[in-house]
Amino acid sequence: MSESHSDFRTIGVLGFGVMGAGIAQVFAASGREVVVLDTDQDRIDAGIAAVAAFLDGGVVRGKITEDDKATILGRITGTTSLAVLSGVDAVLESVTENAEVKKALLAQVATVVGEQTPLLTNTSALSVTDLAAGLPNPSRVAGLHFFNPAPVMQTVEVVRALQTDETLVDRLVDLVHALGEKFPVVVKDRPGFLVNSLLLPYLNDVIQEFDDGLATAEDIDVALELGLGYKTGPLKMLDTIGLDVHLRATEAAYEATADARYAPPPLLRQMVTAGRLGNKNGHGFRTEQPTDGSN
Ligand SMILES: NC(=O)c1ccc[n+]([C@@H]2O[C@H](COP(=O)([O-])OP(=O)(O)OC[C@H]3O[C@@H](n4cnc5c(N)ncnc54)[C@H](O)[C@@H]3O)[C@@H](O)[C@H]2O)c1
Repeated sequence: MSESHSDFRTIGVLGFGVMGAGIAQVFAASGREVVVLDTDQDRIDAGIAAVAAFLDGGVVRGKITEDDKATILGRITGTTSLAVLSGVDAVLESVTENAEVKKALLAQVATVVGEQTPLLTNTSALSVTDLAAGLPNPSRVAGLHFFNPAPVMQTVEVVRALQTDETLVDRLVDLVHALGEKFPVVVKDRPGFLVNSLLLPYLNDVIQEFDDGLATAEDIDVALELGLGYKTGPLKMLDTIGLDVHLRATEAAYEATADARYAPPPLLRQMVTAGRLGNKNGHGFRTEQPTDGSN
């Protein structure tokens, strides 16, 4: 576990889902106290259980001890009460990818935290500039975009909205460095930021090439894994991401830019319409499992 040199000692995380749990773990493992807000106790319990399960894997692999696990879990508090966030040094929202939900929640949070307390967002595809507009003191809003799974992936995008104060950008860079083996990349606020703005067109091209019959799904993945040294082939990656999730992201980027590279390829839309969503339901490009239990 690494200790930090950042001035953010206590962090509020909004949303205890897939990302919120991973991010809470990362902050807690770096020595921070973390308060995680979600809508009900079941979600909080599920979030804590997800962190515990992830840490169990680390114990089994000998990366951390049982004591480390207990220390990290001991730094994470779940709550359904906004008021508990009042003393935190920064808030990172990681709730459902919906601009109205995020704006409404951030506006509520702004009434309980300090006027200067940074309000950060882990959005993948929404405009940070848009989320900041309308909040009191929008210069304390920025993006802090983690990748999934947050405890494993080493890049964190620090997103500078048009309103973001430059000193906040510097403080977030320091914070990411203080998380241990994480590397900040400061990026402009544009659809998909840096990584996803490159990834979305790449995945769209691959889907089109597969649809054109260039090669089998397996061969496309093997070619890119072995030929370019990519860890995961693009069609396997799409199955992991979820075809519905990729469709929503690339549609949003297309709507925001009218850039043809983001236009969803016809096969993607057809697969989602046909309920072929990837690993989550066992039907995707590389996944073909019966969902009715038969073999
Ligand atoms: N899943 C990914 O691979 C990934 C990667 C990077 C960023 N993101 C972004 O992270 C954010 C969260 O994604 P996720 O995959 O963790 O979603 P998720 O659906 O797993 O979790 C969202 C959580 O937010 C909670 N929530 C919703 N409204 C709330 C409210 N008003 N108050 C408190 N909690 C509320 C939900 O109950 C849920 O537990 C999104 O903005 C997403 O775009 C996701």
